[in-house]
Amino acid sequence: MPESKTSLIAATDLRKTYGKKSNVYEALRGINLSIKPGESMAIVGKSGSGKSTLMHLLAGLDHPSSGKIIWNGQALTDMNEGQLTSLRNTRVGFIFQQFFLQPTLTVMENTYLPLKIAGVSPGKRKQLASEALQAVDLLDKADNRATDLSGGQRQRVAIARALINKPDVIFADEPTGNLDSETGQQVINLLFELQKKHNITLVIVTHDEDLAKRCDQTINIRDGKVVK
Ligand SMILES: Nc1ncnc2c1ncn2[C@@H]1O[C@H](COP(=O)(O)OP(=O)(O)O)[C@@H](O)[C@H]1O
Ligand SMILES: [Mg+2]
Repeated sequence: MPESKTSLIAATDLRKTYGKKSNVYEALRGINLSIKPGESMAIVGKSGSGKSTLMHLLAGLDHPSSGKIIWNGQALTDMNEGQLTSLRNTRVGFIFQQFFLQPTLTVMENTYLPLKIAGVSPGKRKQLASEALQAVDLLDKADNRATDLSGGQRQRVAIARALINKPDVIFADEPTGNLDSETGQQVINLLFELQKKHNITLVIVTHDEDLAKRCDQTINIRDGKVVK
């Protein structure tokens, strides 16, 4: 398949079922997609359509019930938990609607948390966190508690945290969902700017049609299926 050569991530007939026996729910019902390196993809659909489920599977955070996900020619479904963790630690950045910053930690500590988890030395992680905070223009807030920041600033910290391991791919799940439209716009502009600069592949789950239009590719999901 020539397509699999050029794609960074390719999914084939991806299915995900939640629950057991009489209580099963088919959240994804046969998804096919292909994302090229450096490309941006929007995953759009109503609440409950399966967007987050799809994102979690593509990022190796959860396992499909059936179907295949190939990253650079390697099947995620063939990897063990250790390999999946390593893939996420070294190649993926995450941004979530709820920011998921630790309230008791400083902005600096929140930013280097993925590196701490990955076992990077204190000196190195501070250096990389400073660079990442510089990139989102928040270095002056490095010693603040994460809770002392505005929503837009918190999401910029989340972007810095997502950038810190120099990922190939950033997955963002409704990154503007908790922001007013102007702040959301600024955060998205920053995200696209950094994506271009570092040639990052970007997968954004969003309700926002305008944001989707700015992406190279849009996947519309309804009831766990891709629709036109
Ligand atoms: N862990 C889970 N257990 C059972 N059902 C789930 C679980 N996660 C999601 N679902 C269901 O799967 C469907 C898709 O959910 P989700 O992927 O979160 O949708 P979206 O992100 O588009 O709002 C929903 O009906 C949701 O209730
Ligand atoms: Mg969701």
